[in-house]
Amino acid sequence: MNKDTEQNCESCGKGKAGMNRRGFLEKLTFFLGGLSALIIGIPVLGALLEPWLTKKVPVWRSVGRVTDFELGKTVLVKFRDSETAPWEKGIGFTASWLRRDSENCFTAFAINCAHLGCPVRWDADSELFLCPCHGGVYYKNGEVAAGPPPKGLTKYKVRLSGEKVEILTGGVPITTLSDG
Ligand code: FES
Repeated sequence: MNKDTEQNCESCGKGKAGMNRRGFLEKLTFFLGGLSALIIGIPVLGALLEPWLTKKVPVWRSVGRVTDFELGKTVLVKFRDSETAPWEKGIGFTASWLRRDSENCFTAFAINCAHLGCPVRWDADSELFLCPCHGGVYYKNGEVAAGPPPKGLTKYKVRLSGEKVEILTGGVPITTLSDG
C-alpha cells in the first residue's frame, strides 16, 4: 500500500516535472514563433503600407543636354524614378518617350500604357505609340487611336535648366479604379 502510494507520488512528481518542461518548451516555441513572425512581418508590412504612409514628392531629373536631341525625333530616355527607395539605387529607373518639338520645346510621354501600364513602343514609321499587351495604339500626340486605353498617354512636365533637359518624375501613371 505504502509502495503504491510512493509509486503514485513518484509518478506524480515525474508527471509534474514533465508538465513543467513541456509547458516551458511550449512557451518557448510560442515566443520564438512570435518573434520570427515579427521579424519577417515588419518588413512585409512596411512594404505594403509604405505607399500610404509616405508622400511622394515629384523630382526633376536630368535626361541629357538639349543638343543631344534631334529636332522632331522621339527617343527613349531613362532616369531615376522619384519613388526610388535608397536601397533601390541601381534598379529604380523608369523611362519616357521624349520628343524635341522645336528649338526649346520638348514633350515627354510616359512609357506606361494608360490601360494597365505595359511599356509602349514608339514606331517612327507609322508615328504611333504601340502597346504590346492588348493592342492599345496612341497617336503621335499621345491621344488614343485604338484599343482599350481609356485615356491618352500621360505627359511629364519638361523644363530646360541651362543646357540640360529635365523631366518632372511622378508615380507610374496607370489607370486606377478611381479613374472609372
Ligand atoms: S496595357 Fe496597353 S492596351 Fe492594355
